Amino acid sequence: MGHFAIAIDGPAGAGKSTIAKLVAKKLNIIYVDTGAMYRAVALYCIENSIDYNSKEEVEKVLDNIDIKITHKDNNQRIILNNKDVTDLIRSTEVSKGSSAVATIYAVRIKMVEIQRNIAKNNSVVMDGRDIGTYVLPNAKIKVFLTASVDERAKRRHKELIEKGIKCDFEQIKKDIEERDKNDSTREFAPLKKADDAVEIDTTKLNIEEVVEKIIELL
Ligand code: DC
Repeated sequence: MGHFAIAIDGPAGAGKSTIAKLVAKKLNIIYVDTGAMYRAVALYCIENSIDYNSKEEVEKVLDNIDIKITHKDNNQRIILNNKDVTDLIRSTEVSKGSSAVATIYAVRIKMVEIQRNIAKNNSVVMDGRDIGTYVLPNAKIKVFLTASVDERAKRRHKELIEKGIKCDFEQIKKDIEERDKNDSTREFAPLKKADDAVEIDTTKLNIEEVVEKIIELL
């Protein structure tokens, strides 16, 4: 009873997860990273030699994919078929695959059900692409985070380097542009600002400023 949701959407690298995590911590509610779920589906496909670009192939194995979200010390863990895959889903191959499987209607329906269930039982800060427009249309606060492509590529690059993943800046930028295009042009629940979302361009803002803005909105 009395649960509320904050929806944070936007393109890859706009700062959603960093911001959402901090807002959740401040409010002492849970943070849900929905991108991790699509990433886990992509990881399953890669590990089982399923072509993630093939709707038919992915649909065929969808029933074999069990995804659970747990929380440990304010950090989300993503469990794929009883295995914690949180640290395995950040590769560029998984990024590409996640954007591909996310275009498949049956995949989205399955993920959205899990997401809505979590929000039904908890107050949440949830980030993704379609949270304000489709998953949680009644969210109390909706934020659409953006930043220039260059800035977003810089952030992703830094993030991957810090995780010890080898990567090339220009390639990351190209991948981000491709993913943006793919995510915003898909037919069902594309990346889009909700009419009642507040847009925040984070290109020239620091993390604390964005967090403050969102708390103020509340
Ligand atoms: O936020 P992320 O980069 O981890 O998301 C990975 C991919 O998953 C993204 O390219 C599109 C898809 N996605 C989605 O379609 N809807 C969401 N709510 C979250 C992610």
